[in-house]
Amino acid sequence: MLLDKYGRQLTYLRLSVTDRCNFRCYYCMPQEGMDFAARQELLSFEELYQLSALFCALGVTKIRITGGEPFVRAGIIPFLRRLSQLPGLEEITVTSNGTLTQKHINALQEIGIRKINISLDSLDRERFHRITRRDTFDAVYACIFQLLEAGFDVKLNCVVAEGKNIQDLVPFVELTKNHRLAVRFLEEMPFNGSDSFALPQWSHREILQHLQDHYPALEKLQSEPSSTSVNYRVPGYVGSFGIIPSFSRTFCGTCNRIRLGATGELRTCLYGPPATNLRDLLRLGFSTEQLTQEILEAVSMRAKDGFAAEASQAQSIHTSMSVLGG
Ligand code: GTP
Ligand code: 5AD
Ligand code: SF4
Repeated sequence: MLLDKYGRQLTYLRLSVTDRCNFRCYYCMPQEGMDFAARQELLSFEELYQLSALFCALGVTKIRITGGEPFVRAGIIPFLRRLSQLPGLEEITVTSNGTLTQKHINALQEIGIRKINISLDSLDRERFHRITRRDTFDAVYACIFQLLEAGFDVKLNCVVAEGKNIQDLVPFVELTKNHRLAVRFLEEMPFNGSDSFALPQWSHREILQHLQDHYPALEKLQSEPSSTSVNYRVPGYVGSFGIIPSFSRTFCGTCNRIRLGATGELRTCLYGPPATNLRDLLRLGFSTEQLTQEILEAVSMRAKDGFAAEASQAQSIHTSMSVLGG
C-alpha cells in the first residue's frame, strides 16, 4: 500500500504517455513547442504496462491517461486494452484535448473506458484559437457531443484567465442546462514551459463570486473527499460545474494522486521535483522488489502540500504541463 506519512493513501495514478501535443495552449507551452523527448527516451508501452502493474499491486485502483495529448501516441488503443486487464485496476480515465478522440470512441467503449475529461477553454471559435493557437474548435465541440451520445461521463476543463475567457464562464454553465456535462473551472498554474508567470487574477474565489452574482441560488454538491473540485449545480440544470483551486492548492490534505511522466519521472506532488526516474531504474535492471522499494521510499518522502513541495524544488517551477502530465 502507498501510504504517506500524513496518512494519505495513493490510489490514483496519472500516467503520461507522451509529452507531445497537437495544441500549443498559452498556459502550457510556447508557440514553437518544446524540446520534446526522443522516442527511445519515452517509456515504451511494455514499460508503461510493467510499471502500471506494479502500482496496481501497491493499491492503485484508478489510472488516468494524460499527455501531452495521449491520442497523438501511435499504439495507444492496444495499450489501453492491455492495461484494462490489470488485476486490481477498477477504472481507466483519459484527459484529452478532443481533437483526435472521435475516431477512438468505439474502441474506448469496448475497452470499458467510461469517463473522459476534455480541455476546452472557450465556446467562441476565435478565443479558442487564441488560447490553443489552433483552429480546431468545431472538431472538439462536435467530439464532446458524440462522447455524450455514446454514454460517456464527460468533464470539461476550462483554465480561467483575465483577458482570455471570462466572457465564457456563464455560457459554459449554460451548457450544463440541458447537457449532462460537468464543467470545471481551473486556476491557471505556472506550468507553461517558460520562465515567466503572472499571478492569476482569477482565483477560485473570484470565479465563484462571478458565478454567484449570475446565479444567486447555486446548489453545492457533495464530492469525493479526494476531489480536486468543489462542485455546484444551478437548480434545475441537468449538468453541474466545479471549481478547481489548482493554484491555491486547497485540496492537498486529501490528495490521493501520484504521477508517472512520459520519460519515467515519478512525482508525488504536481508542484514538486521528480522523486526518482523509474525508466532509468527499469533499464538498469532493477527487480520488481527493488522498484517497489524505490516507490515506497519516494512516497515516504512525500511533501505535506504543494507549497512545501515547491519550496523544496531546486529547478524552475515553469516546467510545461505537457511534461508533468496535468
Ligand atoms: P477526475 O478524476 O475526473 O476528478 O479528474 P482530475 O481533476 O483528477 O483530472 P484532470 O486531468 O481533468 O485534471 C484537471 C486539473 O485538476 C489538472 O489539470 C490540474 O489543474 C488539477 N489537478 C489535478 N490534480 C492536481 C494536483 O494534484 N494538484 C494540483 N495543484 N492540481 C491538480
Ligand atoms: N494551468 C492550469 N491548468 C492547466 N492545464 C494545462 N496547463 C495548465 C496550467 N498551466 C490543464 C489543461 C488540461 C488539464 C490536464 O490541465 O487544460 O485540461
Ligand atoms: Fe496540449 Fe493540453 Fe498542453 Fe494544451 S494544455 S498544449 S492540449 S498538453
